[in-house]
Amino acid sequence: MERMLEKITDAADYLKMKGFTGAGVGVVLGTGLGSFVSQLEVEHKISYQDIPHFPHSTVESHKGQLIIGRLGAQKVIVLQGRFHYYDAYSMQQITFPVRVLKALGIQNLLLSNAAGGLNPGFKKGDLVLLDDHINLLPENPLRGLNDPAFGNRFVDMSCPYDYALGQQLMTHAARLSLNLKKGVYAAVMGPNLETRAEYRYLRSIGADMVGMSTVPEVIVAGHIGLPCAAISVITDECDPDNLVPVSIQEIIEVAGKADAVLSRLMAAAIGSLS
Ligand code: HPA
Repeated sequence: MERMLEKITDAADYLKMKGFTGAGVGVVLGTGLGSFVSQLEVEHKISYQDIPHFPHSTVESHKGQLIIGRLGAQKVIVLQGRFHYYDAYSMQQITFPVRVLKALGIQNLLLSNAAGGLNPGFKKGDLVLLDDHINLLPENPLRGLNDPAFGNRFVDMSCPYDYALGQQLMTHAARLSLNLKKGVYAAVMGPNLETRAEYRYLRSIGADMVGMSTVPEVIVAGHIGLPCAAISVITDECDPDNLVPVSIQEIIEVAGKADAVLSRLMAAAIGSLS
């Protein structure tokens, strides 16, 4: 555990030396969702592989770089490329960047992801604010000895997504005439997509969408007291009675179409954070 604190400090010190200072907001970009970076006046970029103790990205669609830039009066650090449990990273590795962001002084965290829509009202390309989640991942990033310097052993999950941040996003969506829906995200391990019976099951337990990320980061954000909000882009419709095969290429393509709109929404909301 001490070792983790050391690693975080190493990574944060290195990044500070490289100019990653003064940012108040962190952004994690999901699969196929990279255009937010074009909203920034970029100051510095650094490849994950150059940051001490950072995991490296292996997925083609995930670039694997940390970016700091200005967005109006705000400075933002973007994690372009996230880590998934199905790629055999440990939960500690997946969530390490979130801990480093906190050490760099980030006060709000915004996450995006691509997700399958279980709610029959959700269509491809829809944006959905996570209202809550169901964690079906087989491992937990907080397993192991707890260092009280980070947070509590038994992290409260009564409100994993920050209400005020969510409200900001809803307000800006309305201003931009975007239909930002709300829903419950179920996190599964993947990497396979689900069977019809699994989609039925996920719907029946109260999930509106399903994906393979985000929840570990949100749990750690809760652990370290970092307010967060997350938005899913619905990339496929998971109707068990009319299910069609879906490929990762299609998922990335649909995410790409919604990317610009999501970026504008995130930029507007971040711009108004004090
Ligand atoms: N299931 C799980 N993860 C996903 C899906 C899905 O249908 N679509 C995008 N990510």
